[in-house]
Amino acid sequence: MSEKMIQPVRGTHDLLGEEYRKHQWIHDVSYSIAQKYGYEPIATPIVESTAIFKRTIGETSDIVGKEMYTFDDRGGDSITIRPEGTAGVARAVISNSLTQSMPLKLIYDGPMMRYERPQKGRTRQFHQIGVECFGISDPLVDVETIALGAQILEQLGVAHRSILEINTIGDTDSRKAYRQALVDYFTPVSSHLSADSQARLAKNPLRILDSKDPKDQELIASAPSFDHYLNDLSQDTFRKVCQGLDALNIPYKRNPLLVRGLDYYCHTAFEFTTTDLGSQGALLAGGRYDGLVGQLSGPETPGVGWAMGVDRIALMLDQVPPQPRPIAVIAIGDETMEAAFQLAMSLRKQGIRIELAYSGNVGKRMKWADKANAYAAILLGTDEIAAQQATVRNLETGEQNLVAFAVLKDYLIDTFK
Ligand code: HAM
Repeated sequence: MSEKMIQPVRGTHDLLGEEYRKHQWIHDVSYSIAQKYGYEPIATPIVESTAIFKRTIGETSDIVGKEMYTFDDRGGDSITIRPEGTAGVARAVISNSLTQSMPLKLIYDGPMMRYERPQKGRTRQFHQIGVECFGISDPLVDVETIALGAQILEQLGVAHRSILEINTIGDTDSRKAYRQALVDYFTPVSSHLSADSQARLAKNPLRILDSKDPKDQELIASAPSFDHYLNDLSQDTFRKVCQGLDALNIPYKRNPLLVRGLDYYCHTAFEFTTTDLGSQGALLAGGRYDGLVGQLSGPETPGVGWAMGVDRIALMLDQVPPQPRPIAVIAIGDETMEAAFQLAMSLRKQGIRIELAYSGNVGKRMKWADKANAYAAILLGTDEIAAQQATVRNLETGEQNLVAFAVLKDYLIDTFK
């Protein structure tokens, strides 16, 4: 086997140790806060029929156009590894007839795949935690959803290093009018646009506003503003979202160029961004998607949600809450190993984190206990076993006590909590 074959595939990596613990902590904090907002967990498959993504994210989006892992399965059906979670969750809502039980608040997490150029904060397999709220069109629920994201970022300690950018992309009518205005503005100068934006002009002119190309940006600076094309409903909806954020004292910055890269959005679009990760600054992003369930042939159902890039948040964390420290069980001599093993198993069952030394003399085993960052060592010799007790040595202070097996669990909990 060549060395290349035993490396992970480009743009993917193994998750272990400190990084894994960061992911787990981000997960635990997010789920526990989301639960307080009424979110229920859902897990959808990592693959969907390709049409699910094409219809919703949009044929002209970068994701569908050039980033999806799409293949024909052995039966000849076109399958795509999910590049994001929202379309699959909307599909699941329809498949499970949940459109009958609105409103619905769902939280999910898992790996997603996009064929992008890997760089800091951007991988081909990455992890998202997402929330989707279906069935409520009140703009206050947009505020609630954003507030949930803000509270999670706050609890994770990254809120002060990010800002909330928000925008409206209006309803379908407003978008249609604005789209025409952009076509009228960009067409006469289209030869000055980047090749990507020239293609967008034909297919999805709104996406030009998202371009980072310096040539495009000059033209974008004088492009017509969406605000002049928003109808009353769209303006009113956006005003209510901003008022709601103000009332909750959630700081935000209006970014009129924030249009998001997925086609299913309408009205509210938002991103919590940071400058700490270079160009890949979006940490948690989402918006309203009232047409999505309808696009998948379900009943018209309003929806709003976001997804957080877990890997990016993990890069922002200096440390995670420390692991609970173990207690080491150490047999003095091989003849007490059997009893040490039984004791270790029984204490674990009683909820105590135990490491058991399997080899070496007592000195080596004690060194190993230190390395395992154990709080204490339970030393078991033949005398102790005969007296149904153990020597418990506090590895911080060196203090030692003989403790009867019968009260060992309580002693450990009281002394080393
Ligand atoms: P998105 O903006 O495509 O939205 O992705 C959400 C977040 O996933 C990004 O802000 C970023 O943190 C993370 N992310 C995306 N691509 C990568 C990558 N290649 N490497 C690392 N992290 C990445 C969505 O996916 C929508 N489904 C969000 C949503 C939910 N809207 C409504 N509900």
